[in-house]
Amino acid sequence: MKKIAILISGRGSNMVALLDAIEAGEVPAECALVISNVPDAPGLKTAAAKGVKILVIDHRNSSSREEHDSKILAALLDAQVDIVCLAGYMRLISPVLIHAFRNRILNIHPALLPAFPGLHVQRKALEYGVRFSGCTVHFVDEEVDHGPIILQAVVPIMPGDEEGTLSHRILAFEHKLYAKALSLICEDKVRLEGRRARLLLTNLEYKNILSDLVDRGGA
Ligand code: GRF
Repeated sequence: MKKIAILISGRGSNMVALLDAIEAGEVPAECALVISNVPDAPGLKTAAAKGVKILVIDHRNSSSREEHDSKILAALLDAQVDIVCLAGYMRLISPVLIHAFRNRILNIHPALLPAFPGLHVQRKALEYGVRFSGCTVHFVDEEVDHGPIILQAVVPIMPGDEEGTLSHRILAFEHKLYAKALSLICEDKVRLEGRRARLLLTNLEYKNILSDLVDRGGA
């Protein structure tokens, strides 16, 4: 059974989705630790209420990104964590962590990468005028929102969409997507080949996953 840690900075709805999926037996993992760089992140209380160990490592107490990440690394090693899930973690990750957890750090991004990396991406998708957006779970590498893609979910942009409505619909798919991607990782069904993550699934198995990951325009 893999041990995971979840890093958050805010409300932590993706964290909750992962914890719920673990509790439901959909992800063969155990959550050893939730770490927040923000002391009053609402997600911390939620994690504690679910009985998960929480830790605040405030970035303002470190003089550099590397120093902050070294503290996080020490906590991850201490808890014998195998996989790190970034879930609304609003800090860039330094090589200190990336090297120690090479291809073992996952992130969720609310757009179809490589389109719209960075921040405010639902607004950027609307402004650009794309017809489809969605969300991506990927491995974290040295570049922002760049590492090998594990899974994506597709969400159409509806004629009446605004940033809030689109974000809301994408978020519902983020929750499903992150749990599914983590389960594939924990079941050793993802193999890295260069920058491509190959899924060790039959077409039928993948189709079954996909059927849950394509939005048809909301309720
Ligand atoms: C999500 O949209 C995630 O994709 C992005 O930040 C948001 C975090 O939301 N990286 P939550 O804290 O998981 O509710």
